[in-house]
Amino acid sequence: MAASPITFDPANVWARIESLARHGKHGDTGVSRPVYSPAWRAAQDEVAAWCESVGLDVRWDAVGNIWGVLKGSEADKKSIVTGSHIDSQRPGGRFDGVLGVISGVFALAALKERYGTPKQTLEVVSLCEEESSRFPTTEFWGSRAITGRIKPDDLKNVISYEGESIGEVMQAAGFDPSRVTEAIRTDLDAFIELHIEQGPLLETAGLPVGVVSAITGIRHYIVTVDGVSNHAGAFPMDLRRDPMAGAAEMISNVINRAANQGRPAVTTVGRISAEPNFPAIVPDRVTFMIDARHPDPAARLKLYAEHEAAIHEIAERRGLNVEITDLKGHDPYICDPGLVSTFEEAARTVGAPFQTMTSGAVHDTQRMGAIARGVMLFVRSKDGRSHTPAEYTSPEDAALGIGVLTEGLRTLAYV
Ligand code: HGY
Ligand code: MN
Ligand code: MN
Repeated sequence: MAASPITFDPANVWARIESLARHGKHGDTGVSRPVYSPAWRAAQDEVAAWCESVGLDVRWDAVGNIWGVLKGSEADKKSIVTGSHIDSQRPGGRFDGVLGVISGVFALAALKERYGTPKQTLEVVSLCEEESSRFPTTEFWGSRAITGRIKPDDLKNVISYEGESIGEVMQAAGFDPSRVTEAIRTDLDAFIELHIEQGPLLETAGLPVGVVSAITGIRHYIVTVDGVSNHAGAFPMDLRRDPMAGAAEMISNVINRAANQGRPAVTTVGRISAEPNFPAIVPDRVTFMIDARHPDPAARLKLYAEHEAAIHEIAERRGLNVEITDLKGHDPYICDPGLVSTFEEAARTVGAPFQTMTSGAVHDTQRMGAIARGVMLFVRSKDGRSHTPAEYTSPEDAALGIGVLTEGLRTLAYV
C-alpha cells in the first residue's frame, strides 16, 4: 500500500513567506528586492541558512544562485532541480519567485525526512535574478549563467536603469564577474518550477492548481520617437512635429491591436519618458518600452511585425523619426510532455483540483529548458494580480501546490 502523500501545514508556509518578505519590505504587503541589493543578499542568506538547517548541502554559485542538494544514491544520474527566483519587481509582491524557492526547500526537506536518500539527486535552486527590475537586459541572469548564455562582454554591457554595469554591481556584492562561467551546469535532467499564476484563469475556473504545458514568448523593445520641440502656446498645432502625439498614437495602436486580437495576445507599455519633460514645451523626444507576448510562434512574429509596421507608418505620416531597439526576446517554450503527465498524475494523487494551461508570464523554466526537461506548476493568484504589492495567494493553495510538487518529485527521484 503506497504511503499517503506528504502534506504541508499552510501556517508553516505562510510563516516562511512572511519571513522572506521582510527583506526589501515595501509597504504592508509588497517587496522591492532587486538583484545584488542588501535586501537580496539578506533573502539569499536566509534561504541558505534554511537549506542548511534541513540537512541539504548548500553552496553559492558564481553569480549568486543558492543551491541546496539532496544527494542521490545513483551518482551517475543527472540532477532533478526545482526552484525559482528570489529577486522582485520594484515593487512587487511577496510570492512571485519566492514561492517556488520555498516550495523546493519544503519539498526536499519533507522527502528527506520521510524517504531518506533519493535514487536521483534532488536540488533546490534560489535563482539570483529573473525580473529585469534592476537591469533591463539581464534576461534571467541566474538561469542565463547556469545555461552558459553569459558572454564576457555582457558584464560591462548589461547596464542598470541607474547606469551601473552588472559587472561592477556584482563585484560590489562580493561576486567575481570573471568567474561567471563557473555557474554553468551540464548535469541537470529536469527543472520543475512552482510559481504563482499571476493571472485570473485559475481563480475564474475555481481551481487552486495549474500544470503548465507551454510558456509564452516575449519581446521587450524601446521605441524612441524624435520630433521638433516648440513653444506649447505660440506654435500652431498644424505645423508641429510632436513626438508625444506620435507616441500616443503608436501606444494606443499596439495596445488596441493585442486587445482586438483577443487572448492570448498581450501588449503593454509600462514605461515612458519625455525630453525635456516640461508642460510648456512640445517635446524633443519621447521614449517608451513595449512588452509584447504570444505563446504561438507564428502568431507572435505576426503581432511583432504588425506593431512595427504601424509604428513606422505613424512616424512617417507625422514627420517624426523613430528608432526601435530590441532589449530582450524569448521564444515560446513547450514543457516536457512526460513531466506534464507526471505532475498531472501527482495532482490527482494528492487530490488537488487542477487544469493544464499556458503561462502568460515568462519564467526561468523556458531558459532552463535549453539544458534540461522543464515543467511548471501554478497556484492560484487572488484577483489574478501580480507585479504589485496587492499580489496574494492563500496559504492553503500554496501548501496544496507544494504537496503536488513534492509528490511529483517523489515519483521522479525515488521510484
Ligand atoms: O514579466 C514576466 O512575465 C515575469 O514575471 N518577469
Ligand atoms: Mn516570477
Ligand atoms: Mn515577475
